[in-house]
Amino acid sequence: MGLDVFAERPGVGGGNPITELFNQSPTPLEYRGGRLRDEGLAACVFMLFRRTSDPSVCRSTKILCATGTIWQPRPTGRVFNEGEAVSEIGSRSQASTAVWGGEDRYLLDRATQVPVVHSVAFGYPDFDEWYDVATGVAEGHIYGRNTNPTVAVFEEKVRLLEGAAAATSASTGMAAISNTLHALLRPGSRVVSVKDTYGGTSLLFIEFLPAFGIDCELVDTTDTDAIEAAIGAGCDMLYLETPTNPTLKVLDLARLIAAGHTAGAVVVVDNTFATPINQLPLAFGADLVVHSATKFLGGHADALGGVVVGDADLVKKVFQYREINGATLDPMAAYLLLRGMKTLDLRVKRQAENAMAVATFLEAHERVTQVNYPGLESHPQHAIAAAQMSGFGGMLSFAIDGGLDAVKAFLPDLQMAHRAANLGAVETTVGPPATTSHVECTPEERAALGIPEGLVRYSAGIEHVDDLVADLAQALDR
Ligand SMILES: Cc1ncc(COP(=O)(O)O)c(C=O)c1O
Repeated sequence: MGLDVFAERPGVGGGNPITELFNQSPTPLEYRGGRLRDEGLAACVFMLFRRTSDPSVCRSTKILCATGTIWQPRPTGRVFNEGEAVSEIGSRSQASTAVWGGEDRYLLDRATQVPVVHSVAFGYPDFDEWYDVATGVAEGHIYGRNTNPTVAVFEEKVRLLEGAAAATSASTGMAAISNTLHALLRPGSRVVSVKDTYGGTSLLFIEFLPAFGIDCELVDTTDTDAIEAAIGAGCDMLYLETPTNPTLKVLDLARLIAAGHTAGAVVVVDNTFATPINQLPLAFGADLVVHSATKFLGGHADALGGVVVGDADLVKKVFQYREINGATLDPMAAYLLLRGMKTLDLRVKRQAENAMAVATFLEAHERVTQVNYPGLESHPQHAIAAAQMSGFGGMLSFAIDGGLDAVKAFLPDLQMAHRAANLGAVETTVGPPATTSHVECTPEERAALGIPEGLVRYSAGIEHVDDLVADLAQALDR
């Protein structure tokens, strides 16, 4: 079953090409977002196929995208060249992209694995060639603070997974986030975000950015009308994170991104908790996606890293700031993250299954007073999560009766969980916000952000689910 679509660029003639794709689709598809622009279309198309249940459509459909005035075929997830040949979109799944994506370019001497290039600088005997690379006329590497071959493969893999036009990396998730904010905001800029962003990000909004004359309004995460009103009052950047850390609140991406764009804002989404396996914010029109690669992308708690993907011009600005700021991803960390990402699809799916079973068990336990997991029907934004995510992720949080004292007694009794300030690893990892996501905040600040002191953040690992449930049961029933 094939689908060939020709449509002219909007405004030149013909209809909205995304609408036409959906109208002509042989299977029912839901279009929830996405902007009609060159980089965005690939992501929209990507979403289209993720929502297609018929595998024969996934394999055989050809999609035509914009180059010049005619929409021509382009593959998903690459920087496209005008007139590029027809390609089969959807023939490569996220699972395969996680394994193979971006790896062919720097393989050396028939090696099957990407090398770790530990070289600070890259030498050019020929002055003209050196000059061309240094001035960006030719591709290549000059100095390790700016670019590195191993790091480039890591960036490319994430770019492909997120369906983005461009990617750049940073030494940590916070470096990716703070470099993005500092590169794109100026004194007098106004940012709208939500109260439940990761603690470090929150602190940028509450303390550091205002010191540079940047107005940051943080709105109740669950009040979409209030977020829209704040955006309507003027917004240069809309910064979203969904699901949130540690309360697992879910934002309506399609609605908020549309509101942000109406106000002329750049929209940034932290996709750390969801991962590109479960959620593709660029498909809803987001301009940039940021990650703490330290978490699920790497997945083995052995390397720090951050990445920013999305619109090519914006990513370039972030890269140019980061190369001067100096928060560069180390090649060895890039290698470890790359190796971890090969199993991203397997891990993330197993973690989501485990999290769902654990959340269901906890919800029924008499000592548990609150469970936050988007996959539970009791979750206030379950319907939104179900519509915009293809899996609910490996993170949950819960409260037990007795508050912080009860948590202090309960945590040491767990046999199969690291009590540590990390998440997304293959091992189950637990901790209260006071020592993990919101360690930077005072108890009063946590209370103001709606984070109870007695909450436990639970990052499900890839262990056997029966062992995880049994472990929680024995610790709760003491
Ligand atoms: C959602 C989210 N974003 C960003 C970060 C920051 O990442 P990193 O610790 O790699 O700087 C974290 C860390 O926990 C996080 O959970």
